[in-house]
Amino acid sequence: MNIGILGLGTVGGGVVNVLAKNQTEIARRTGTDIQVTQAAVRDINQSRICPTDGIQMTQNPTEIVNDVSIDVVLELMGGTGLAKKLVETALNNGKHVITANKALIATHGNELLALAKTNNVHLLFEAAVAGGIPILKSLEQGLSANQIEMVAGIINGTGNFILTEMRDKGRDFTDVLKEAQILGYAEADPTFDVEGIDAAHKLAILASIAFGCELQFEQVSTIGISEVSGEDVAFATELGYSIKHLGIAKKVKGQIQMRVHPTLIPKTQLLANVDGVMNAVLIKGNAVGPTLYYGAGAGDEATASAVIADLVDVIKGTVSGDIFGWKSLEAMQNQHQDEIESVFYVRLLATDETGVLADITAILAQHNISVESVVQKQIDAQNNAHIAIITNLVKTKDINTAVATIQSKDFIQEAVKIIHVETLD
Ligand code: NAP
Ligand code: HSE
Repeated sequence: MNIGILGLGTVGGGVVNVLAKNQTEIARRTGTDIQVTQAAVRDINQSRICPTDGIQMTQNPTEIVNDVSIDVVLELMGGTGLAKKLVETALNNGKHVITANKALIATHGNELLALAKTNNVHLLFEAAVAGGIPILKSLEQGLSANQIEMVAGIINGTGNFILTEMRDKGRDFTDVLKEAQILGYAEADPTFDVEGIDAAHKLAILASIAFGCELQFEQVSTIGISEVSGEDVAFATELGYSIKHLGIAKKVKGQIQMRVHPTLIPKTQLLANVDGVMNAVLIKGNAVGPTLYYGAGAGDEATASAVIADLVDVIKGTVSGDIFGWKSLEAMQNQHQDEIESVFYVRLLATDETGVLADITAILAQHNISVESVVQKQIDAQNNAHIAIITNLVKTKDINTAVATIQSKDFIQEAVKIIHVETLD
């Protein structure tokens, strides 16, 4: 079985190392000798995290996807331009393709999966979601008896690493991001990690497998972790919550919600205790109830574990169904943002005058929003009160209208912040 790898960086290098380290186990499981015969990189002279002896190195990836001796192509270079062209060529040349590229699958997966089907080959992407956690296989295989009601997870390792280091060590955002880049966790463009785009790619993939619909990446609403301040973290802790960057997909009255945003979750929830680069995904099935999957969300060998598991499936012929059940899938209607119901955390900076808190709660009440809990910090040197409120379950349009009214009041000193609160029950 000859393998050609496009990209020998963090993930590609991890694949070569794990194939060597676990050669005996993998050969026993597949009954096949797997050889990485070719690899494409940008800079052939750069040092690698893996040995390259026996691998024909090239700076021209097209050679690999057109080489008749290659049986399976691993696309581990990233991006959606050249990577897409190479994957298309490989599929058209009758080669199976395995990728870790969530951006590619989330944005072009519908057409690429159709192309794979036309060519009677597999296009697999377990490593694209939640690093080493076999979450796609769990959804497609282990939970196949269920109607999936909800998927909620910490699905970006870099973001979770940054939030954890900031909370536990008071470290600076930029400093932690640099470390995540050195450790090989971050995307080539790290704004994908911190602005939630990477998590949105993954959520689109999870939702489409969970609910059996087309990939609809453009429908995911996204808020990044740059919205979270140290004051929010302190208030959340005082109120009994942790702030995590969650991707949430739900089926509600025949429609789907897909959203990525910072979220307050009760400290007692298992997800609240998933720290560092670790990822965790909570899946609720209507038969099994809640299930939770935990593991490394990024990194060379953890991600390689998922890439090689797909390779083993291809070799053994154990790929589940028709490529994760992809038949003639249709788009599913998205629930309008305004209609999404959630509990909210509202943070305000207001002049410390008699009646201000009463005015705020009165405005909330006018929109049928009640206050579940409230915390007011000491008055600061400018005579401003720092206030955080947790609401009841309300429609997004109602909290937005109420906040706009509160914001217009003279006693409000800075932009009112709202963050979703999820109990995940
Ligand atoms: P990386 O370390 O930057 O590696 C990318 C590799 O692709 C490098 O070897 C690079 O060559 C090569 N490459 C890029 N453009 C090329 C071109 N035009 N021609 C030939 N080779 C080219 O990236 P990575 O972290 O391994 O990520 C790869 C993919 O896996 C991405 O889609 C990413 O989203 C996904 N992923 C990453 C992780 C993770 O933990 N890092 C986890 C899951 C999924 P040079 O080395 O010569 O520059
Ligand atoms: N940049 C991604 C993350 C890599 O940090 O989660 C794994 O998909």
